[in-house]
Amino acid sequence: MHEQASDLIELGKRYWLPVYKPRELVLDHGKGARVWDTEGRDYVDFGAGIAVNALGHQDPDLLAALTAQAHKLWHSSNVFYTEPPLRLAAELVEASGFAERVFLCNSGAEANEAAIKLVRKWAAANGRPPERRIILTFFGSFHGRTLATVTATAQPKYQEGYEPLPAGFVHAAFNDVDALEAAFANHDLAAVMLEPIQGEGGVLPAAPGFLQRVRELCDAHDALLVLDEIQCGMGRTGSLFAHAHDGVTPDIVTLAKALGSGFPIGAMLAGPRVAEVMQYGAHGTTFGGNPMAAAVARVALAKLGSPAVLANVERQANDLRAGLARINHELNLFDEVRGRGLMIGAMLAEGHRGKAAAILDHAAAHGLLLLQAGPDVLRFVPPLTIADEELADGLARLHAALSDFAAS
Ligand SMILES: Cc1ncc(COP(=O)(O)O)c(C=O)c1O
Repeated sequence: MHEQASDLIELGKRYWLPVYKPRELVLDHGKGARVWDTEGRDYVDFGAGIAVNALGHQDPDLLAALTAQAHKLWHSSNVFYTEPPLRLAAELVEASGFAERVFLCNSGAEANEAAIKLVRKWAAANGRPPERRIILTFFGSFHGRTLATVTATAQPKYQEGYEPLPAGFVHAAFNDVDALEAAFANHDLAAVMLEPIQGEGGVLPAAPGFLQRVRELCDAHDALLVLDEIQCGMGRTGSLFAHAHDGVTPDIVTLAKALGSGFPIGAMLAGPRVAEVMQYGAHGTTFGGNPMAAAVARVALAKLGSPAVLANVERQANDLRAGLARINHELNLFDEVRGRGLMIGAMLAEGHRGKAAAILDHAAAHGLLLLQAGPDVLRFVPPLTIADEELADGLARLHAALSDFAAS
């Protein structure tokens, strides 16, 4: 028997550092795109643990990989080799089509931290002094919560109070080619780092041609292109890597979230210009490439890149967009529905701006786990394997929740 959810929630309120504000329910178990709470209520999961559970809950192949490895060896550190991270690195290189080497870590922020360090090490190796190792990132981006990645994250709300922030970052408006060109003209950029689709910043895709222009300018100015695919990568957009849609070749790509599909792991993929820059002792982590995480990620990578999963992304994305259009036709709550594949954002119309959190409460009350991306955008990032019936049920619950909201 479970303790009352309210008693459990009290523990969080009493003992957690109060940096989160979870909805008032305690999740207990899941299957596919459904989750149940400790009181036995079921939810359709349109959030997938912030775009993490890409294969849904209790995927039998992930479960088998995890339990098989759990019965063998949990951890070794990088002082010794184990098989799963060796094979995972080779498989990531093969799947990427551009990378030559991989650094495995435990989270998105760590993958980006490694990328930032690699950029600087590369610039240093090329004889550039520190003031010529500037990294350009974009307003509205999100790259993590460590000091360097929160500095790269060009949103003041994540930075306030953490000053002094590390030096060496400048920011420009996203999708603004003039601002991009001005940044190259005014700073000695060693790299441009960006999300092909800004996630936390509102599910905002790079405009057509923007990534290509970034690549051209990087080439012209001898700078690196770093793509943060932590949220939009691993099949979410309908191709394994989001940048495949833009036809650019990056120098560095960071991954996390769906790479472990629920088991923590991150990765930094390094292309030929940077693959040999960091040598023995230049970087490291105790847990990175942990055999349990890597065993799971190998299976996740294979499944997320499979034609069956990618075809499902496209089909369900069409159905989700059609469903949102139907709901909006009746309720008129959104200005715009944007994104790619199963990474969709619905921008709230003028009169409803700032109300995303309130809508999430209505959604939870109607048995739907939904996310926001800032105060004005509802974010839909369900498992990539979501079934027709689960999606239809989720849309029905969304309709009920939004009708309630509109009437409130
Ligand atoms: C694009 C992007 N980069 C980096 C991160 C940070 O990842 P983590 O929370 O695993 O450190 C996130 C997390 O939301 C993200 O969406």
